[in-house]
Amino acid sequence: SDQSAFETDVWTLTRFVIETGRQAKGATGELTQLINAMLTAIKAISSAVRKAGLAHLQGLAGAVNVTGDDVKKLDVLSNDLVINMLQASYSTCCMVSEENKELIVTPQEKRGKYVVCFDPLDGSSNIDCLASIGTIFAIYKRISEGEPTEKDALQQGNNIVCAGYALYGSATLVALSTGAGVNFFTLDPGVGEFILTERSVRIKPKGKIYSLNEGYAKYFHPPSMNTSNTRKEYLITKSFHSDDGSSPYGARYVGSMVSDIHRTIAYGGIFMYPANEKSPKGKLRLLYECNPIAFIIEGYWTFSLNRSTRVPFVVGSPDDVNGTCPSSRSSH
Ligand code: AHG
Ligand code: MN
Ligand code: MN
Ligand code: MN
Repeated sequence: SDQSAFETDVWTLTRFVIETGRQAKGATGELTQLINAMLTAIKAISSAVRKAGLAHLQGLAGAVNVTGDDVKKLDVLSNDLVINMLQASYSTCCMVSEENKELIVTPQEKRGKYVVCFDPLDGSSNIDCLASIGTIFAIYKRISEGEPTEKDALQQGNNIVCAGYALYGSATLVALSTGAGVNFFTLDPGVGEFILTERSVRIKPKGKIYSLNEGYAKYFHPPSMNTSNTRKEYLITKSFHSDDGSSPYGARYVGSMVSDIHRTIAYGGIFMYPANEKSPKGKLRLLYECNPIAFIIEGYWTFSLNRSTRVPFVVGSPDDVNGTCPSSRSSH
């Protein structure tokens, strides 16, 4: 193909979304509008993240959210951006956000047929030290008629129409899946567009990296991990520290789920946030953290619970996941 330094027929994410929308039977363009609005919010968040220290966007906003986290200024800004851009796209009827206690109902005159569950800024404990952070979202079709209700947002993860995450890392990247594989798009800051950089990404069958907050090891306890005591030993020591003579795994834990997940997809390996005595249900939240990520990695997910419900979470290379938790579903 053409070797010229400046590509003149690139696949931008906008183009990709329009094209996929055109090919879908009976599509009205509403999902395309929604995704484009989400991308605008993500670009604006990326810009804010890049100058957080300069624009006085570091530090606390002074509140605690519904899941008990200290809210940071960048959490609030990102949340406002996503809500405003999505409502302005005329494609949503309601949303659930980590930062809002109640269901966010779109003003009647701006309603469309989609429901979005999102984490506007993931990894906010990493903002002030300039480590990677992200945004996560899952899109569903509404199921109720009339006034939107929480039921619309509490659908099973395998009803997801489209899920994605943005990673504000050494570059800004968007991973997007409509259930048929995940594609990566990297932001070209000069053009202001996300450019397709990897198509149909598949996770390696087995990796060499394990990722969890092992500092909580003394709180891991068998019942809530859905494992036996031996299983715990297996999980923490045998499997990854390789006491059996095989070469040990490397440890990586950013503490921003999006970063840890993106590395797991890019390099292989396993990411875990198991339950422990202090967090008997784990920490990660089903609706806007676990469900979208599971959908991106596996293509489907089956939980359906209350909106702020937390779940123990294990994802990664199928061999690593199966070796650790034989009862859990593998990813492929
Ligand atoms: P958020 O910043 O959206 O509240 O999410 C924080 C989450 C997740 O990103 C990360 O994997 C996890 O918290 C880290 O928790 P620990 O500090 O307990 O390891
Ligand atoms: Mn939080
Ligand atoms: Mn999060
Ligand atoms: Mn968050």
